Amino acid sequence: MSSPIRYEFNEARGAISDAHWNELIKPLEEARQEVFADVELFNSGGDIPEEKQPLDAGFIEFPRRLLDEYEKDSSGSLLGRIMESGQMLRDELDRLLVLGIGGSYMGMRALFEGLCDPYHNEQPRELRGDIPRLYFEGNNVDNDATQSLLGLLKTQCKDATDFAQRWGIVVISKSGGTLETALAFRLFRESLEEYYGSDSREATRYVVPVTGETGKLRDFSNERGYPTAFPIPDGIGGRFSIFTAVGLLPAATMGIDIVQLLEGAAEMTERFQSASSGNNPVMDYTAVCHLLEKYSGLKTRILSTWGKALEASGLWYDQLLAESLGKQEKGAFPLTVVNTRDLHSRGQQHQEGVRDKLITNVFIDKPNDDVLAIPQFEENRNQDQLNKFAGKTMPEVLRAAFDGTNKAYADVNRPTADLSFPELSANTLGQFFQMMMLATVLEGRLIGINPYGQPGVEAYKNNMNAILSGEM
Ligand code: PA5
Repeated sequence: MSSPIRYEFNEARGAISDAHWNELIKPLEEARQEVFADVELFNSGGDIPEEKQPLDAGFIEFPRRLLDEYEKDSSGSLLGRIMESGQMLRDELDRLLVLGIGGSYMGMRALFEGLCDPYHNEQPRELRGDIPRLYFEGNNVDNDATQSLLGLLKTQCKDATDFAQRWGIVVISKSGGTLETALAFRLFRESLEEYYGSDSREATRYVVPVTGETGKLRDFSNERGYPTAFPIPDGIGGRFSIFTAVGLLPAATMGIDIVQLLEGAAEMTERFQSASSGNNPVMDYTAVCHLLEKYSGLKTRILSTWGKALEASGLWYDQLLAESLGKQEKGAFPLTVVNTRDLHSRGQQHQEGVRDKLITNVFIDKPNDDVLAIPQFEENRNQDQLNKFAGKTMPEVLRAAFDGTNKAYADVNRPTADLSFPELSANTLGQFFQMMMLATVLEGRLIGINPYGQPGVEAYKNNMNAILSGEM
């Protein structure tokens, strides 16, 4: 592994007794074995016992499988076709709409915010590396936001023969029946067909569905004859689907190195399978979170990200943990914060509020861009009195805030742990996403909760449909 992310947990470990730590070794190991036994059961294609249903263990080996296929037959493999389609969208469009919600949205947003310029859409095309602007919709039922994007497309795109005014849609829904996404797809498809002409080549070329093997979107896609559509394989659930075409197609369009992303993920699976405790982020993270929840009542898991690029990754994790383990009146409460921003909003509560929080910092060791430093000003312009820090770089200031915050928590016995990224890259993000998915599944097996499926989400959907149908 070129740049392994590190889980450093000495501080949190100090809040766990040796007896509790040691007593977890066996059940944790058994849970790890169960996770891999699930993979074998899933691969066997045999009947899945009722207590294991649903069993969406397909995500565990999928990154390595995609990479192996790609190595054998680059252009014929799924990864090769995703890259080709991403290249086509990049070369031919200047704006791309990604429609999807939940697991069909959050991962892509995390990749975009993590790995693309924060002002990407504002940049002229040459400074965007010839990459389209990206817009997310279909992740809400928001009249004004939808109107606004429809309006923007109408005012900015008037000549469909001009490449700089062309736009397209990637619509993502595994079930194909999610109302939020279907509604947005209908509205934006209507606009797109009006723009290019419903019988035009562009009206089908610039719509790429990513969906399950069966369902309403798959049926529509077949009937409409979209030339390119990608599958979301059975056995990979929505919030575990970031390494399928769900995340990979938009990522490839954005010029993200999807091979490195998958390498990071595959390496994390291999590390989880073989590394011993202490050098196994999945096992160590799960042990710390579980024991502090069980014996110290730390039911709130704060993912404390440092810098703006990881906020969406945190929100992705919020969904993963909440939908996977929030069942049977159990499951920790996930909350993402972005520092130093949220030190000015939530910091007070973390320092002095209820003692129910475990803080896991996510810190990137070095920035990707040129480093800024505090400039030295003439004394008559030193009203802000920053000359005393002149020459200190922004990363040094952030590090001081990080160290200062963690010391302040340690001083009052509030446990923290750190997830350190040597750098923010496709590879380290790939490691992170796979680590969190594996840890969630491992914890589910440990506490006897099926991490797959989200039966509780059906209640609102049923009511909404009944209300809309006049049945309620
Ligand atoms: O994790 C999940 O399965 C969910 O969050 C789904 O991704 C979400 O409900 C969207 O579903 P679909 O992709 O079927 O539209």
